[in-house]
Amino acid sequence: MANPSLLILAGDGIGPEVMAEVKKIIGWFGAKRGVTFDVTEDLVGGCAYDAHGVPLTDATMAKAQEVDAVLLGAVGGPKYDKLDFSVKPERGLLRLRKEMDLFSNLRPAQCFDALADFSSLKKEVVAGLDIVIVRELTSGVYFGEPRGIFVEGNERVGINTQRYTESEIARVARSAFELARKRANKVCSMEKANVMESGILWRDVVQEIHDKEYPDVELSHMYADNGAMQLVRWPKQFDVIVTDNLFGDVLSDCAAMLTGSLGMLPSASLGAPMANGRPKALYEPVHGSAPDIAGQGKANPIACVLSFAMALRYSFNMGDDATRVEKAVEKVLADGLRTADLMGPDGGTPITTTQMGDAILVALDASL
Ligand code: IPM
Ligand code: MG
Repeated sequence: MANPSLLILAGDGIGPEVMAEVKKIIGWFGAKRGVTFDVTEDLVGGCAYDAHGVPLTDATMAKAQEVDAVLLGAVGGPKYDKLDFSVKPERGLLRLRKEMDLFSNLRPAQCFDALADFSSLKKEVVAGLDIVIVRELTSGVYFGEPRGIFVEGNERVGINTQRYTESEIARVARSAFELARKRANKVCSMEKANVMESGILWRDVVQEIHDKEYPDVELSHMYADNGAMQLVRWPKQFDVIVTDNLFGDVLSDCAAMLTGSLGMLPSASLGAPMANGRPKALYEPVHGSAPDIAGQGKANPIACVLSFAMALRYSFNMGDDATRVEKAVEKVLADGLRTADLMGPDGGTPITTTQMGDAILVALDASL
């Protein structure tokens, strides 16, 4: 059988630094677990713009369509703020999501015991937290037409369109219900059915899919603004949250911070099954390119490492090895190792990105 294939797009800012640690872990799997990944590397975002004048070339796009999974670091940076909208670094990422049709974005927010003190919320509110936001990723206001800045009379008007078809809602709802069945069997769907027709349709379709196909799963509905409030009030009431593209963007940043650091959270963006039965997939940290700390060895590689663990689970059918990586991360945190983003107000001495990666490798060795 062919080796599993991976396209690595490290991107901008801290992307290459955190990805370097993941590459060590990929190497570890070859050396210690006899699983050799065929790895190709390419450019996305600002670095692709610098090299080719576009944030993602057609050739890179074609490669992404062929591999078993794409692993992405981060895109963007102040250097590119003035670029035309059509070639901004983020457009590269959005093109990957759209053309690979990665409609289901899983964003887990899990609070590691060792970091429960670290959240801005009280320890009892976040300790043991384990929720997943399933964000619709290829439609809604991110892609709806018409869009643009137009002139009306003597002023400009900015327009974006929130648009959802039934089938787009149904497929992401199914993905949330399937996931819930493997967890605590609870889904909360969030929209603004009180002010948006697309929200009314969202609520109806999620309920229909539930009643017809997943009556065993506990389903509730919430307005997204209330959902944001409930997430900070008592997040442990949730198991799986399913929501649209824009609400999911906002709510997942909010959920991320419950866990103490954005530097900890991985994500998986999944599409329809490929010929091998596994979904088309892209894995990336929830954090951005953090240009302010790029190149200084301060970045936390854990979100990127855990994104690779998600790839093991969802793309390579290696759930046990995914758990092995997650346990290794838990171990180094329990041992008190901290990158700069995990320094409390009392300070302490942070370790570097590379030291964190090395510590995870040591923990992986110990797991054998
Ligand atoms: C995210 C990011 C992206 C988004 C940006 C970088 C385009 O915020 O993945 O949450 O808005 O989806
Ligand atoms: Mg975001």
